[in-house]
Amino acid sequence: MKSTRIKDLLAMPEDTAVGASVKVEGWVRTKRGNKNVSFIALNDGSIIHNLQVVADAEKFDEEILKNITTGSCICVQGNLVKSEGQGQTLEIQAQTITVYGGADAKTYPLQKKGHTLEFLREIAHLRPRTNTFGAVLRIRHAMSYAIHKYFNDNGFYYLHTPIITASDAEGAGAMFRVTTLDAQNPPKNQDGSVNYSEDFFGKPANLTVSGQLEGELCAMALGKIYTFGPTFRAENSNTPRHLAEFWMIEPEMAFYDINDDMDLAEDFLKYLIRYAMANCADDLEFLNKMYDEALLERLKFVADNTFERLSYTEGIDLLLKSGQNFEFPVAWGLDLQAEHERYLVEKYFKKPVILTDYPTSIKAFYMKQNEDQKTVRAMDVLFPRIGEIIGGSQREENFEKLEARILELKMPLKDLWWYLETRKYGTAPHSGFGLGFERLILFITGMANIRDVIPFPRTPKNAEF
Ligand code: 4AD
Ligand code: MG
Repeated sequence: MKSTRIKDLLAMPEDTAVGASVKVEGWVRTKRGNKNVSFIALNDGSIIHNLQVVADAEKFDEEILKNITTGSCICVQGNLVKSEGQGQTLEIQAQTITVYGGADAKTYPLQKKGHTLEFLREIAHLRPRTNTFGAVLRIRHAMSYAIHKYFNDNGFYYLHTPIITASDAEGAGAMFRVTTLDAQNPPKNQDGSVNYSEDFFGKPANLTVSGQLEGELCAMALGKIYTFGPTFRAENSNTPRHLAEFWMIEPEMAFYDINDDMDLAEDFLKYLIRYAMANCADDLEFLNKMYDEALLERLKFVADNTFERLSYTEGIDLLLKSGQNFEFPVAWGLDLQAEHERYLVEKYFKKPVILTDYPTSIKAFYMKQNEDQKTVRAMDVLFPRIGEIIGGSQREENFEKLEARILELKMPLKDLWWYLETRKYGTAPHSGFGLGFERLILFITGMANIRDVIPFPRTPKNAEF
């Protein structure tokens, strides 16, 4: 007999379900009962709900029932019956039970409910078996699917950009070196520096911080593309919103100006939130109950309201007038800190904000320069609880202006010749942005720490699992 997922069993209409002979496989969450009967809560990961297995002691070897402990993996065949228990409509009356794998009650770490998230991070190999991480991982899946669906339905092509790159063009952060040289004894130049011409790629190479530059090359051919892949940043920022390895979604669109870019970002985010509310209701309700009672309300609010759009300069004015005691200084020309972003979003406007036209000096070289010579056509989307969730811009499409900016920043022009050629041959106005996938999942799940929304987080001093 083929097994049925618990999600599918619970979705069956009651009259077909009751009496049906089925097989289910999953992990035991709890077992209780008495010497006559055992009640086993079984979870197979397909859905947050457990299926109750009723095992009459007279039908089973004592040995088998003893091996069914919290954490063990079992296969049950039996008939579905209407449940009298609270909070469930169906249960399975077991005819046969096979124990695939036991879990010693003395050592299995997930014996009880209510472990702290900090403790669960130390057992990242087992935490997917908890209700919380089951919910988070199912939501991650649903959001990945929705991202591809949104772009596919809107005429974007999925583009695979390289993970290993020889350019640090973005300047978005410190990079991880990729090398096959012997760390103990690398080949040296006469001046004592490492001779990278003997390295695998013949020059220094790194893990990418962003697929944008390659994305731009292909947007200049396909029109609208998006990337969705891992990116790596070696900053030593130990915050609840930074990972050293995170996933980023980067759409890049020919013929879009910054307003089109903002419209897309807002529509995309709202689509994803609505998708989650429509398709992840059980998991969201669980997270709303356990972690964040304002979650569902906040999701609906953001999906239903227009984002506030204003310039960086207007934002700075509001911060200066706010009368707040910020930890970090506020002045035109300084980058905004999370506390500033959250003041604008949570206290002042009480909704998502898109800030535009940042000072040239705090943004990347490729952003389109404004007439005022002081600002660029950047746009950052700021969200409640998260701060920056999206960073993007219109791109500088003018060859001379772009080249001048690269030289001004003393960036290695020769490494960027291929990027500049898009401005030399058939250049076009274009725009794009990057959405941090884990920041999106933080917002959707209401979790507080980015380490709890990725299966195996990479942060400074942490790459165990
Ligand atoms: O603002 P960022 O650095 O922009 C770029 O990388 C551009 N190339 C995007 C583009 O225009 N195509 O990063 C984009 C987003 C941020 O808004 C944030 O959500 C996320 O990526 N992000 C991080 N998420 C987790 N951990 C980190 N260390 C992150 N750094 C950025
Ligand atoms: Mg940014």
